[in-house]
Amino acid sequence: MIINWIFLVVLVAPCFSLENDLARTPPMGWLAWERFRCNTDCKNDPDNCISDQLFRTMADILVTEGYADLGYEYVNIDDCWSEKYRDTGNNLVPDRNRFPYGLKDLGDYIHSNGLKFGIYGDYGNYTCGGYPGSIAHMERDASMFASWEVDYVKLDGCYADAFDMDKGYPEFGYFMNRTGRNMVYSCSWPVYQIYAGINPNWTSIIKHCNLWRNYNDIQDSWSSIETIIDYYGDNQDSIVPNAGPGHWNDPDMLIIGNFGLSYEQSKTQMALWAIFAAPLLMSVDLRTIRPEFKAILQNRKIIAVNQDPLGIQGRRIYKHKGIEIWARPITPVEQNYYSYAIAFVNRRTDGTPSDVSVTLEQLGLQYKKGYKVEDLYEDVYYGVLEPKRKIKVKVNPSGVVILRCDIKVETTPTRNQYSQFSPLNHVFQVRQNSFE
Ligand SMILES: *[C@@H]1O[C@H](CO)[C@@H](O)[C@H](O)[C@H]1NC(C)=O
Ligand SMILES: *[C@@H]1O[C@H](CO)[C@@H](O)[C@H](O)[C@H]1NC(C)=O
Ligand SMILES: *[C@@H]1O[C@H](CO)[C@@H](O)[C@H](O)[C@H]1NC(C)=O
Repeated sequence: MIINWIFLVVLVAPCFSLENDLARTPPMGWLAWERFRCNTDCKNDPDNCISDQLFRTMADILVTEGYADLGYEYVNIDDCWSEKYRDTGNNLVPDRNRFPYGLKDLGDYIHSNGLKFGIYGDYGNYTCGGYPGSIAHMERDASMFASWEVDYVKLDGCYADAFDMDKGYPEFGYFMNRTGRNMVYSCSWPVYQIYAGINPNWTSIIKHCNLWRNYNDIQDSWSSIETIIDYYGDNQDSIVPNAGPGHWNDPDMLIIGNFGLSYEQSKTQMALWAIFAAPLLMSVDLRTIRPEFKAILQNRKIIAVNQDPLGIQGRRIYKHKGIEIWARPITPVEQNYYSYAIAFVNRRTDGTPSDVSVTLEQLGLQYKKGYKVEDLYEDVYYGVLEPKRKIKVKVNPSGVVILRCDIKVETTPTRNQYSQFSPLNHVFQVRQNSFE
């Protein structure tokens, strides 16, 4: 008689949510990818290859050139940092020539500057650059990152099945949590699913990731920026509600100061990334950036909009004949009225500035006692303007004017009071023809 022993193996999927209390405002820092790519040629290009030296140098400059004081705190490695193969114990190993002291040592250096350390991995079989992926080694890789005292993990999604990601991304997050080390979790989960024609499960993504990519990689051009702006505007009803403290949409890096953007276009990227409540991850050579571009990246008032504690992502409220108006509810809040950052964007290419004239009321700003209105690039303060008051701005081709409109606050509400105002309750109503 043959006895069949049937083992019923119940695989309990880890029921887990990311409650790491990190990224309460969008992360800020420096990320290698857009500018330095997968340059591994340290022999011929020692100053620009992905190496220990590059990250130490950028960490130094973040501190000495004032970026760190403004909140740029993460120094993030992207792809192409590791050896092509795991070691005999299946561990990821940093490239032995380019990172001769190992990543714990690099992390220590970054931390000793008061900064934070970010790394890159991939959920699938390989990273996009063909380096080892984490799919069969999640627990091992998460603990390795923790042992290097990493503070931020970007997990890409090349060489993976997008259908598996609903399970796989939470699983990696579970192992990150199990290490006991606080690490921001940046996911590429939705963008690969969208590519594969899958409707992402936002409930789950919000629950498991601190930030996530939902659109193409940014490239060094204005046309790349424009496709991202359009994506964020055209899809705002589905993506804006997903943003909030601890969980952000990531339109990808700031490319300001590189080769592809004019001065005006650079101002537009900075202003709209503030409206988007986007992570501010600069990817630029901080050694050679020109002062006017550095000034854009260091604009305190625009950074303050980006880092607004309410964490409500802004929306495109008007789009007509190449003129767009974007608005983001911000603090201070009083009697259920928000303050706003308003960006006027000129997408036209006829070479003269366009005038936009509009009342605050038409923009949805109804607070009777008025708003303190300030231009965040020009450092002009317009005083307190009532909702019926018409404002007129001149917007340069592919440029921006960004205003901050603060309601006059009698008392300063506590952070808890803010949470009662749901961004979904706010409806913008701007008529298409309300501009001359
Ligand atoms: C990853 O590797 C496994 C094992 O070799 C293979 O079965 C799977 O098809 C690969 N997945 C992708 C998306 O390439
Ligand atoms: C792990 O998750 C638990 C519950 O979800 C949370 O309380 C804890 O702070 C997390 N730990 C880390 C290091 O993220
Ligand atoms: C989305 O994820 C949530 C939370 O993880 C889950 O409860 C829900 O069933 C999922 N929805 C779909 C349509 O799969």
